[in-house]
Amino acid sequence: MQLLFEELAKKDGSRLFNIEKRKVINSIPNMQSELTQIFKQLAEDPSWVFEDLTQKDTSYATHGFHKYPAKFIPQLAKRCIEENTKINEIVCDPFMGCGTTLIESLVSGRKTVGVDINPVAYLISKVKTNPINPDKLKNETDKVLYDLKLYFESRNNHQKTLSKIEIAPIIPNNERIEYWFPDKKLREELGTILGRIDSIKDKDIRDFCLCAFSNILKNASIWLMKSIKPTRDLNKKIGIPTNLFSRQIKKMIRGNDVYWDILSANIKNNLKVYLNIKKADARNLPAENNSVSLIVTSPPYVTSYEYADLHQLTALWLEYTKSVNEFREGFIGSIRKKEFDHNGIKSKLAKQEIEELSKKSKKEAESVRNYFFEMQQCFEEMYRVLKPKGRVCIVIGNTELKKVPILNAEVFTEVMILLGFRIHKIIKRRIPSKVLPQTRDSKTGRFTSTGEANRLAYAYEYILIMEKL
Ligand SMILES: C[S@@+](CC[C@H](N)C(=O)[O-])C[C@H]1O[C@@H](n2cnc3c(N)ncnc32)[C@H](O)[C@@H]1O
Repeated sequence: MQLLFEELAKKDGSRLFNIEKRKVINSIPNMQSELTQIFKQLAEDPSWVFEDLTQKDTSYATHGFHKYPAKFIPQLAKRCIEENTKINEIVCDPFMGCGTTLIESLVSGRKTVGVDINPVAYLISKVKTNPINPDKLKNETDKVLYDLKLYFESRNNHQKTLSKIEIAPIIPNNERIEYWFPDKKLREELGTILGRIDSIKDKDIRDFCLCAFSNILKNASIWLMKSIKPTRDLNKKIGIPTNLFSRQIKKMIRGNDVYWDILSANIKNNLKVYLNIKKADARNLPAENNSVSLIVTSPPYVTSYEYADLHQLTALWLEYTKSVNEFREGFIGSIRKKEFDHNGIKSKLAKQEIEELSKKSKKEAESVRNYFFEMQQCFEEMYRVLKPKGRVCIVIGNTELKKVPILNAEVFTEVMILLGFRIHKIIKRRIPSKVLPQTRDSKTGRFTSTGEANRLAYAYEYILIMEKL
């Protein structure tokens, strides 16, 4: 079933475009140009910018536990949830990243389902969504920090320390660890922290500490900070791992205190009923057919962030993988070879863009083809789990590769209409300059943190709100 847009109406003085009247028909001549037109005419909606929010606001409760590339702000997820669902309904995020949608769903009294292919995302989201009794957390982490202090004091100063403590360090045998952590002493110190964490019996506390450990790894290595490509900084001044870890734990304890206070007693006591979280593929969601009321998500982009590369330090230390290449498997938007049936792509706009791009670079065209095909499979899965009239809020920006516009928002909208969704609303949102994550290199189109870049990426993004018919 497909849709014809009969009217583009501006709603009661609002600058928001709202497509109000629709007629279901079997074919839509010129749907693509109509769609392109809708996006061109769309005015920015300032109410979705959240310009006044400070970093403190956006990292409240557990949101600030761990850095994560391209996460969206909790206030945006919260508004999507509150405007489109009722208490106790199910909200899903198939690309949960560090769990923003899941936390906001629980805080708003909704049930939530989330998956991510990245085991590091799974660890972070699991910890951030799990409220821990503050007294228990303080007692248990105090023991860990005390033991580490005692251990290093006794090693550095034999005579003065009376009590001694034994910790067996855990340092995975992998040359990439030496590559990123060339200083043997620092490697051993990190290994000792990991060894002490490993001995924690309570799983919640152990995961909490692993999340803290994961977040200090970039600072404790020669990773060039702020770089979104794995780059070494041989002149970097590296902090002392135990101090970094202790500070991180204390910061996370404060976040957990807030989260514990704002979460309802009912949800804390029945977390398993409210939270379903897995390391899984977005094309295989752990949800029944027609069960989910809302999906709030921001998908990966094509050839931008390589999440597998960016999380390699954690993946290596926690032995999620032996090789970074192998770790990329299953990540959508990643640069890797995989052949798909070209006819499988439904979107005409996508096909046009791929053809245009293949004149400039066959390799990049192939990546975009894979990307759109895999995203189409994700939309099919979203359709399966959503209730009729259930909605999807997709936060997505457009981009450019080799000067060819890659109109993700238009393509996604087209595919979803072809799969049986209708447009409920499309919001154009300016990304406040202070949170614009980075610029793009004009030659490669890739994200870069160097001065070579001369063009801002994603000054605007869209929130596509689609409804299952
Ligand atoms: C833009 S991020 C999501 C960020 C999230 N909204 C947040 O606030 O943290 C996109 C996510 O998609 C994940 N991803 C990539 N391919 C996937 C797949 N096949 N299945 C599930 N998740 C995938 C990446 O690991 C990444 O965490």
